[in-house]
Amino acid sequence: MRRIGILTGGGDCPGLNAVIRAVAKGALLGHGIEVVGFNNGFKGLVENDAWLITEEAVSGILHRGGTILGTTNRDNPFKFAVTGADGQVRYEDRSRQALEHLEKWRVDCLVVVGGDGSLALGHRFAGLGVPVVGIPKTIDNDLSATDVTFGFDSAVATATDAIDKIHTTAESHHRVMVVEVMGRHAGWIALQAGMAGGGDIILIPEIPFSYDAVLAKIEERRSRGKKFSIVVVAEGAFPQGGEPVYQSVAGTRRLGGIGQVVATEIERRSAMESRATVLGHLQRGGTPTPFDRVLATRFGVKAVELIASGRAGEMVCLQGGVVKSVPLSEGIAELKRVDPQSEQVRAALAVGTSFGR
Ligand code: F6P
Repeated sequence: MRRIGILTGGGDCPGLNAVIRAVAKGALLGHGIEVVGFNNGFKGLVENDAWLITEEAVSGILHRGGTILGTTNRDNPFKFAVTGADGQVRYEDRSRQALEHLEKWRVDCLVVVGGDGSLALGHRFAGLGVPVVGIPKTIDNDLSATDVTFGFDSAVATATDAIDKIHTTAESHHRVMVVEVMGRHAGWIALQAGMAGGGDIILIPEIPFSYDAVLAKIEERRSRGKKFSIVVVAEGAFPQGGEPVYQSVAGTRRLGGIGQVVATEIERRSAMESRATVLGHLQRGGTPTPFDRVLATRFGVKAVELIASGRAGEMVCLQGGVVKSVPLSEGIAELKRVDPQSEQVRAALAVGTSFGR
């Protein structure tokens, strides 16, 4: 094993630089293995946009958000968007080019740092004979093979801080403040930031809500002299019998907007003023928490260890507090969603939080 490649794909999250640093330092210092960085996820692989990562290049990046390699969450080498001379976009299979570039750079094993989408692409390359090791990252924390992904803790910290700040306006103005957080299919950020920030109502995709129940909770608080309420809603949450809310932007549908819909409905049905705040990409930025820096470092070092011992086709993970690995196919097999019967949800219910049921 002489050289490994690394790319970061999908949405960025705090801790990506920490993991790049760990892979590069772990490989260079521990095993004398060189590391090639591909820029902008799988796009760099198709376009041969790559460079040899030195120890110097990864010095001082541990605490920095984002990724020094760049990322995209739309480029798929098997269905690569190419704009023709006529200005029309066509989709082509460019996987062969990607394979050629891996060969050109003499990459013996590719480390794919990504969420479900990027890891699935890594798995497809593994099927073409490329030794691939996956490292799970996503603020959504929705990969079932790992207890937690790095980026999640930082996103929860950011969202909790925002809820704390919004609390004061809610209290001063006697309003219902609705905070929309990320979470397409899984409500982990809403659940944990909602619990940490003392949200009175938490709405997640796993528990379709009823407006009657939301209003009943607000009313119950008001009857106890609590003239304000905080609602934390995941972007993928939806009412019973309803659909998630999407925005149409330049011909594409993007999830988001449920916060305003909920705030409008609360104002319409009650005598209370309501406002919505969308935290959006704030949750993906900023410095990683110490937990995420440490987890990213452990994941990066573990990935290098797997590669050095000739074990590709695996995804590193955290299980029961121990860093392990599972077959890549297992790592992407199932989304991890909030179990409505889980101890976490029961704990929130026990302290009076409503899930709008
Ligand atoms: O997958 C992470 C995530 O943050 C989701 O929660 C969110 O829906 C999505 O990325 C937004 O991505 P984009 O950068 O395309 O707006």
